[in-house]
Amino acid sequence: MASTRLLCLFSAKAAGTTKTRLAGAAARRVCCRRSVCSSPSRRQSCMSAWVIDQYDTDGGGLRFTDEATVPTVRSPTEVLIQVHAASLNPLDISMRGGYGAKLLKLRREPLSAMHSDSEFPLILGRDVSGVVVDCGSEVTHFAPGDEVWAAVPPWKQGSLAEFVTLTEYEVSHKPELVSHTEAASIPYVASTALSALVSAAGLCRDSSSNKRVLVTGGSGGVGTFSIQLLKAWGAHVTVTCSHNAEGLVRGLGADKVVDYTEGDVAEQLGMMEKFDVILDNVGGDTEQWAVGLLKPWSGAKYVTLVTPFLLNTDSMGLMDGTINAGVTLCAKATQNIISNGVFYRWGFYAPDGPALDEVRKLVDAGKILPVVEAQFPFTQVPQAFQKLEQGHARGKTVIRVAEEETSQAEDLVLDVGTETAESEQGAQGTAQHN
Ligand SMILES: NC(=O)c1ccc[n+]([C@@H]2O[C@H](COP(=O)([O-])OP(=O)(O)OC[C@H]3O[C@@H](n4cnc5c(N)ncnc54)[C@H](OP(=O)(O)O)[C@@H]3O)[C@@H](O)[C@H]2O)c1
Repeated sequence: MASTRLLCLFSAKAAGTTKTRLAGAAARRVCCRRSVCSSPSRRQSCMSAWVIDQYDTDGGGLRFTDEATVPTVRSPTEVLIQVHAASLNPLDISMRGGYGAKLLKLRREPLSAMHSDSEFPLILGRDVSGVVVDCGSEVTHFAPGDEVWAAVPPWKQGSLAEFVTLTEYEVSHKPELVSHTEAASIPYVASTALSALVSAAGLCRDSSSNKRVLVTGGSGGVGTFSIQLLKAWGAHVTVTCSHNAEGLVRGLGADKVVDYTEGDVAEQLGMMEKFDVILDNVGGDTEQWAVGLLKPWSGAKYVTLVTPFLLNTDSMGLMDGTINAGVTLCAKATQNIISNGVFYRWGFYAPDGPALDEVRKLVDAGKILPVVEAQFPFTQVPQAFQKLEQGHARGKTVIRVAEEETSQAEDLVLDVGTETAESEQGAQGTAQHN
């Protein structure tokens, strides 16, 4: 009970602290290039990491090593980041079992189709909050010492390690008023939600105030972020979730909440005014009843994040899988525009540092709060995976890679009072719930 903590930040605090990238970059450029690490031991180029050596669908396979190779800046636009905190997403569990392996391997190494180079040892973890320790010669927005956050693309080595490299475009300055642990709960779900809501659904800050949006699966990582973003943009937000998450999603700003475990969810939503946008975080048969809830012939859009694209490339191969996914999407889009007068789309995560810059402003203004359900130390990554595997997420599960200071906003705590008993059990008593 009452284990999800939200940080309540005052926008006034943020006002004097935000600075533009350009102003900061000019001042920092002179010191941009410097050696990765100052301590002699670090120059040995070994680091701690959790790796997998093969795909494993049985839930094992994670191996701790302190002999992983420290990544280096290999292109002029790359930055090397010391990871302070990471977080887990459902994708980490899927990728551990080989989800998306064929396409991601090709993306990592375009020539891999021609030979059989291994992608292992592979490091999972898609979110990072940390500190820049090295920059390529053409990096203009960041300098060593900068606190940054980012969503690590799934084709890159992940953040369950002491260091990670990313391109400058993928990175953003971290919000100033939250800790690394809190910041790490946001980038991947934020990048996904923004890609889905902006690129696929056509929403933006200035066009959302008169829009009715339905978010299914509102209690998870993407859902809890999307509710807050949409409310910051002025939309009317309806959420589906289970009964014990109602307090959480209402605390994040949801206008209407429908308990999908109580009665027919489609029937309950069907009694409401129709929607302009549906963001579907649940998938399955949701689309069969959800598209009928959209306003017909008025540009309304259904966007699902649960797509068969990578499953298709895994099972059918790259060419056939891509063609099959394309045909499926076209058929559904055509059928929905003809018979329902609505747009049907698939949403995907996309790396986008500038988008995270906008999210940072909302976090520092107190309009978006990190929703950290559980924290684990770096020694307990397998336990964190076990917690995630049990489902019923209420926000995010975060890994403290480097033990850190407490939040600067520690005294500004809003307890939403959600029940997360299942999650506490799942963490086997190791999570430090807030
Ligand atoms: N396409 C992409 O690039 C992309 C990117 C990110 C995420 N995704 C996918 O998007 C989905 C959501 O991601 P996430 O990170 O938010 O997952 P998550 O953190 O695991 O959250 C899922 C939430 O949905 C709730 N839920 C389950 N069944 C439900 C139902 N029938 N109706 C309403 N709520 C339900 C769960 O709680 P209860 O079970 O307790 O109800 C949980 O809170 C996942 O399938 C993920 O794989 C796709």
